[in-house]
Amino acid sequence: MAERLALFATAARGTEDLLAEELKELGAKRIRQDRGGVRFMAALDEALNVCLWSRIAMRVLYPLGEFDAKGAQGLYDAVASVPWEEHLTTNVTFAVDANLKDTEHAHSGFVALKVKDAIVDRLREKLGSRPDVDTRNPDVSVVAHLVKEKLSLSLDLCGEPLHRRGYRVRPTPAPLKENLAAALLRAAGYTGTEALVDPMCGSGTIVIEGGLIARKRAPGINRSFAVERWPHLGVRAKELLADLRADARRNERKVEVPILGFDKSDEALEAADRNVKAARLGEEIQLAEGDATKLPPLPEGGGLVLTNPPYGDRLGSGGQKGMKTFYFKLGDSLRALPGWRVWVLSGNPAFESAFHARPMARRDVWNGPIPCTLLGYRAPPLPPGSKPVLGAPGESQEVAPVRPEHQDE
Ligand SMILES: C[S@@+](CC[C@H](N)C(=O)[O-])C[C@H]1O[C@@H](n2cnc3c(N)ncnc32)[C@H](O)[C@@H]1O
Repeated sequence: MAERLALFATAARGTEDLLAEELKELGAKRIRQDRGGVRFMAALDEALNVCLWSRIAMRVLYPLGEFDAKGAQGLYDAVASVPWEEHLTTNVTFAVDANLKDTEHAHSGFVALKVKDAIVDRLREKLGSRPDVDTRNPDVSVVAHLVKEKLSLSLDLCGEPLHRRGYRVRPTPAPLKENLAAALLRAAGYTGTEALVDPMCGSGTIVIEGGLIARKRAPGINRSFAVERWPHLGVRAKELLADLRADARRNERKVEVPILGFDKSDEALEAADRNVKAARLGEEIQLAEGDATKLPPLPEGGGLVLTNPPYGDRLGSGGQKGMKTFYFKLGDSLRALPGWRVWVLSGNPAFESAFHARPMARRDVWNGPIPCTLLGYRAPPLPPGSKPVLGAPGESQEVAPVRPEHQDE
């Protein structure tokens, strides 16, 4: 491999610019925002630093090439032209993950099988034997992305997608992906030096991601990465990651701001509690039962409220009309909190008018397949004489509308 690798980090649609910003801070070079992610250059240690530290990326891919791949035979021939013997040996396991868009093939399983066959046949020819497939925990993950007849092939440095930090031991219905929650926090200007509240915290993703930022804890500190098992880079990657992990552990900081999660569901709170403890943030995050439309007094000095309220009628409160009433009550509860900027991710188009306040910022973001809007509301001024909590930025930067074009996975 070249000294500097040309890589592609994927992210949730609508967060590519936030990922580009983050990659720059992590030392990536020649950063170029693209559809569904960000291209960049990085030496191996820098690439591993991105795997360990990126809060927003979903995967970090090492692209092997782009090919014309017409029909099943074209697909097979394109894959067989790649020098797989440079990336795989006969004693590692591998798996193929295929994503299709507008293709002649109906099933991703068929494409994955063709790609696998071509890899195996090439290796059998070049090495006299073939590696085994392990779809659950492969050493090398091959990612095939087929759009119409254009095939891109990559190796995934991470293996398990990066949003799997390892703390979600108890999910709830409709949790945010961890990397999306981190992107929303960045969009809202959260740096971990001001108070954070999620009044509808569900499984706790927003408060946990906020806690990790406040603690300066690397999101990937408790997991390994597939690249550590790659035949030609694995040993070096393991050594480098050991140093990066040790540095990360040394540089964690104490959390000096309140981080609070409320929910009205006992089940959600129980899940959040389990997840917060699994994230080792039990001391830093307080959880309590509460109704977001009748919030108890929040810590003095203000900070950031970031939340994603229910989009649909899970509340059983009278369909869309009931949702509008709920959003209106939320507006009454949240929009007039002195010193608190309120940011809301909503997947219900009725939210904005029902909330009844003018956002200072908005962006289109996709929560998986659901198109959502992130809305940011200015903080009403603090009463005279009160102090903001620590280094609170007070007012977040304006966020330009972003219209994402395609999804990462
Ligand atoms: C879309 S989920 C939030 C998911 C969360 N961000 C996560 O990652 O798990 C919405 C949450 O709002 C909670 N909820 C609904 N109405 C509420 C209310 N009036 N007060 C507090 N929580 C409420 C639900 O119990 C649910 O957990």
